[in-house]
Amino acid sequence: MTHLPRGAPGAALSSPVSTRPTAAREVTPDTPLQALDLSWRERDLPESERTRHVHRLHPYLGKFVPQLVEVFLRKYWSPGQTVLDPFCGSGTTLMQANELGVHATGYDISAFNVLLCRAKTARYDLSLVRREALDILDKTRQAEPAEMHQGGVWDTASPGLARAPAPETDNVYLRSWYAPAALRQLLTYRRLLDAGDYTYRDLLRVILSRSARSARMAPHYELDFPRAPQTAPYWCYKHSRQCHPTSNALKFLRRYTIDTLERIAQFDAVRSEATVAVHHANVLHAPLAPVDGVITSPPYVGLIDYHEQHAYAYELLGLQDRRDEEIGPAAGGSSQTARRRYQEEMAKVFRRIAEVMPRGGRMIVVANDRAGLYGEIAALAGVDVEGVVTRHVDRRTGMRGSTFYESVFVWRAP
Ligand SMILES: C[S@@+](CC[C@H](N)C(=O)[O-])C[C@H]1O[C@@H](n2cnc3c(N)ncnc32)[C@H](O)[C@@H]1O
Repeated sequence: MTHLPRGAPGAALSSPVSTRPTAAREVTPDTPLQALDLSWRERDLPESERTRHVHRLHPYLGKFVPQLVEVFLRKYWSPGQTVLDPFCGSGTTLMQANELGVHATGYDISAFNVLLCRAKTARYDLSLVRREALDILDKTRQAEPAEMHQGGVWDTASPGLARAPAPETDNVYLRSWYAPAALRQLLTYRRLLDAGDYTYRDLLRVILSRSARSARMAPHYELDFPRAPQTAPYWCYKHSRQCHPTSNALKFLRRYTIDTLERIAQFDAVRSEATVAVHHANVLHAPLAPVDGVITSPPYVGLIDYHEQHAYAYELLGLQDRRDEEIGPAAGGSSQTARRRYQEEMAKVFRRIAEVMPRGGRMIVVANDRAGLYGEIAALAGVDVEGVVTRHVDRRTGMRGSTFYESVFVWRAP
């Protein structure tokens, strides 16, 4: 039996009555909402399950757990119906829906997130994508100065890297966050990608972005939002030892090429024929097609900058920056005014979606509503509140320790 502490959000509306957390794949349309216990512990839902196949194609801060999506798809959706995620982020809803034969539509204001969702959900000719990914990797290697080829080893301490010519870019961000050799390798890959005749360009751009993220001169314990380039050896809190700033991107390009190919093959084995459409658009204004319901985890007010966390990708890939259109932007803070605006904009999003949904269709909205903003959002949106499932999240990743309550709001379109 899970006991909810006093004051846990949603405790008054519903509380789990099961003796063990719900196994997502056992949920059926008949499973009562009140019986759902979504407070999975590590042993109930190990990291390998939460990050299986393309769910971990690229780091992304602010994902929700795919099994959470699975629970509600199994309860409220049938294969062939459509789910909308108006804030699709890294695409968790879209991939999970596809696995269950549910058509999915996603919107996101961040060009990088849209690129990532498209790369994750695209259909691949597995032998062609393999040939392309290995081809560009090989050409990037071959473009390296001759001393780098000896023994086929690219060692971070290699003197060849230190003697690398200055990178050919004026971009201040790239010049300050990368060692010369790492930047040269990333720019070579990008040049090959721009000039080459590759079919799966989005996937190659994701491999490049993931490598660029790891190759930044960022302390290992600050990879989400590093404050300043780390140009000298430093004490690493994550690894409890002295670490050196990265000077090599090729090792990451190689590692992530292999990992990416494995992950898309794993997803290919479980995916369905259901469609996935991803729109780079502001969901406050974008035209919306009819859907059966919504599963989403919206941005929260003043919390995460969804553009800044992938600044390296925007700089390297030249993506369009639309951070001014984020709802509840981190830069806008969480003042009373910011909260009110956030509530009004969120309500507008859900009101617009309700117009393209069947009456009584479900909207599942996941939020760590620490400021208690969602009761008012539901009222402003005019949705019917069916219940709230509260789940305890206790997880540690790197230096980010996290234990908090997350609310799953179950609303019905009026
Ligand atoms: C919490 S994240 C979603 C994470 C997602 N559930 C996942 O598992 O990856 C919220 C997303 O909303 C997007 N967003 C913020 N304002 C938006 C807007 N006006 N229109 C569309 N998307 C927006 C952000 O870019 C971000 O990717």
